[in-house]
Amino acid sequence: MNTQKLIDTAKAMVANDKGLLAMDESTPTCNKRFAKVGIPQNEETRRAYRELIVTTPGLSEFISGAILCDETIRQQKKDGTPFIKVITDAGIIPGIKVDAGAKDMAAHPKEKITEGLDKLRDRLAEYSKMGARFAKWRAVITIGENIPSQGCIEANAHVLARYAALCQEADLVPIVEPEVLMDGEHTMQQCFETTEKVLRAVFNQLYMQRVMLEGMILKPNMVLPGLACSKQETADEVADATIKCFLRAVSASLPGVTFLSGGQSSELASARLNAMNVRFKSRAPWGLAFSFARAIQQPALEIWQGKESNVVAAQQALYHRAKCNFAARRGEYTAVMDKNV
Ligand code: 13P
Repeated sequence: MNTQKLIDTAKAMVANDKGLLAMDESTPTCNKRFAKVGIPQNEETRRAYRELIVTTPGLSEFISGAILCDETIRQQKKDGTPFIKVITDAGIIPGIKVDAGAKDMAAHPKEKITEGLDKLRDRLAEYSKMGARFAKWRAVITIGENIPSQGCIEANAHVLARYAALCQEADLVPIVEPEVLMDGEHTMQQCFETTEKVLRAVFNQLYMQRVMLEGMILKPNMVLPGLACSKQETADEVADATIKCFLRAVSASLPGVTFLSGGQSSELASARLNAMNVRFKSRAPWGLAFSFARAIQQPALEIWQGKESNVVAAQQALYHRAKCNFAARRGEYTAVMDKNV
């Protein structure tokens, strides 16, 4: 394990107010998003869409790293240039999603456990050889009647830590993603309590599995009311709750946290990230960054519609959202930025 390399990469992933672009949707998830906007679902359309993303002019002004999935890391541009080379040449750090998805957890109805530890050491070695410098693993926690259970929280925290230790052994920076889902009627307070419990379990396991905290990135959910909750707090209230929770449960040794968007609208995700940076940037021990998929990509996907003639407009939309989130890291995002497009 090259400690300094891990620390340097982790720092670079959150440096200069940039953030990560998650473009690692699994094939079923990508197909689902294509189906919603009427795009044919096949390997070539997925390839063409990912080519659109990685060739967006100027993306590296705001994006420090891009998370790919197994299919994408092996694909090329139409002219034969591997995507990983396109990304690296643009000055963007390539990363790879390595979990095998959240599956139903035995004896735990309505709960999920993420799979993928088997043969992970060999897969990490291969991805590292291909040029990846960081990895991602997502665990899913659901709030509902009598859930999450302690068994689900502990099992997911344990595999996250085992994955993270294997990544560091292979000189890949692990992104540790324990996502408390937004779906449901739960209140922001319930999300706060669950997120705190989950983060405490995760950091406990990271310590037990000897993960070097300076060489990893946390990808958490924001502390939010459920999507169907009747009370929706303001961006400032979300910022205060999220940072209060993290100050309790997240180690100050981390170089940064990169939030997932989790189904928030693009504008809300930017506004809430902005509020956090306005209020806490100078005081928080970690960079408050982003690792959005939907909140960066969705407008571009809707514009593209699978048509070559829409590529330039879609790239402009992607560039715009990346710029908004870069501004949010600086506490300079305003709704006006979105009105003028
Ligand atoms: P969203 O930003 O769409 O939640 O996706 C982030 C991600 O990478 C989920 O693993």
